Amino acid sequence: MTAFSLRDGVLHAESVPLESIAREFGTPCYVYSRAAIESAYREYADACDGREALVCYAVKANSNLAVLNLLARLGSGFDIVSGGELARVLAAGGLAENILFSGVGKTEAEMRQALEAGILCFNVESEGELDRLDIVATSMGKRAPISLRVNPDVDAHTHPYISTGLKENKFGIAYGDALRLYLKAAALPGLKVTGIDFHIGSQLTQIEPFLAALDKILEFVDRLKGDGVSLAHIDLGGGLGIRYQDEELPAVATYLHALLARLGTRRLKILLEPGRSLVGNAGLLLTRVEYLKHGEDKNFAIVDAAMNDLMRPALYQAWHDVVPVIPRAAAPQTYDVVGPVCESGDWLGRDRLLAIAPGDLLAIMSAGAYGMSMSSNYNSRPRAAEILVDGRQIHLVRPRESRESLFSGECVIP
Ligand code: LLP
Repeated sequence: MTAFSLRDGVLHAESVPLESIAREFGTPCYVYSRAAIESAYREYADACDGREALVCYAVKANSNLAVLNLLARLGSGFDIVSGGELARVLAAGGLAENILFSGVGKTEAEMRQALEAGILCFNVESEGELDRLDIVATSMGKRAPISLRVNPDVDAHTHPYISTGLKENKFGIAYGDALRLYLKAAALPGLKVTGIDFHIGSQLTQIEPFLAALDKILEFVDRLKGDGVSLAHIDLGGGLGIRYQDEELPAVATYLHALLARLGTRRLKILLEPGRSLVGNAGLLLTRVEYLKHGEDKNFAIVDAAMNDLMRPALYQAWHDVVPVIPRAAAPQTYDVVGPVCESGDWLGRDRLLAIAPGDLLAIMSAGAYGMSMSSNYNSRPRAAEILVDGRQIHLVRPRESRESLFSGECVIP
């Protein structure tokens, strides 16, 4: 499903020319395609067909209420990492009973909030968290459903900042500690052991690391069963990558079928936590060229979006295609596409061949995941608007922040 395509010389989001979105709502703005989000979700759901399974969208990838609501309406569950995300999911119409709570630093207040709501499962990441959750749940007269996030110590072969399944990462419970902690958890009155979970990293382009991790986890599940602890579910995490540039990726069905085949006859409900692969290529960041600056060594296209809007290039040297909304026939030149923020790291694309002029619109592609959700107000820049396109319809699902809102909670002292 291609959400964005050139029609009559103008880049469109579904059936809407991006030019008209820029005219109506200004730039920079994020533009998402409903059809692309829905079709990505269906790929997951279809690949699980015939199994007891729940896709729990990783909210951190894109937490706009409209996006969450679309997924909730398709029956998606949600993977959250904070009380804020829990509130968002509930506000968007997600069901508490379909929510997983991941993350290494859950506070007591967040545990209470989640127990109050009645979530599906806590993915516990340390012994300290296990102890705390037991105390909190007991004090509320509840039993918290838990799984342990076990760190399989497998190299995901992705960027070090988004690799999470190695021993040296802060995530999960060491493989060697997992048995003792499961036995401990099974004996605690405030906990109910229901599953196991692993997540080894993000933007994985190969199936092998997933399989290596799963094999280790399944070996452990069998061992655990032998020790009298039977699990109801296995959470395979998220992490499947998307094509940003020229990456070769397995289809969702190929990836899932390979994993599911490894489960054999084990009767485990499947949980999944995909984020990027559901929304990444369903969104772009629309920006306008303010200036072209021709330096001695380099040419710069200074645009009105910046690292505060899309942090991935600055943080991970990530590649996002940069595409003119109305391509020109002129000879292209090489530009660094940069924002107005006062940092040398404020770039969106480097060494891009573009035929552009000031005032032109550019689309920064594949920005639906970890774009808006990682944005900030750095340099006192109001956050961009978000627009969801559905066929010919344009929905403003979050207006651009106002200048006043930037300091609305602040005060001066006498
Ligand atoms: N589950 C857990 C426990 C996670 O930590 C993550 C992502 C996911 C699921 C979803 O992973 P996905 O399917 O999206 O790969 N900001 C970085 C990505 C950070 C990912 C953090 N965890 C980026 O822009 O590339």
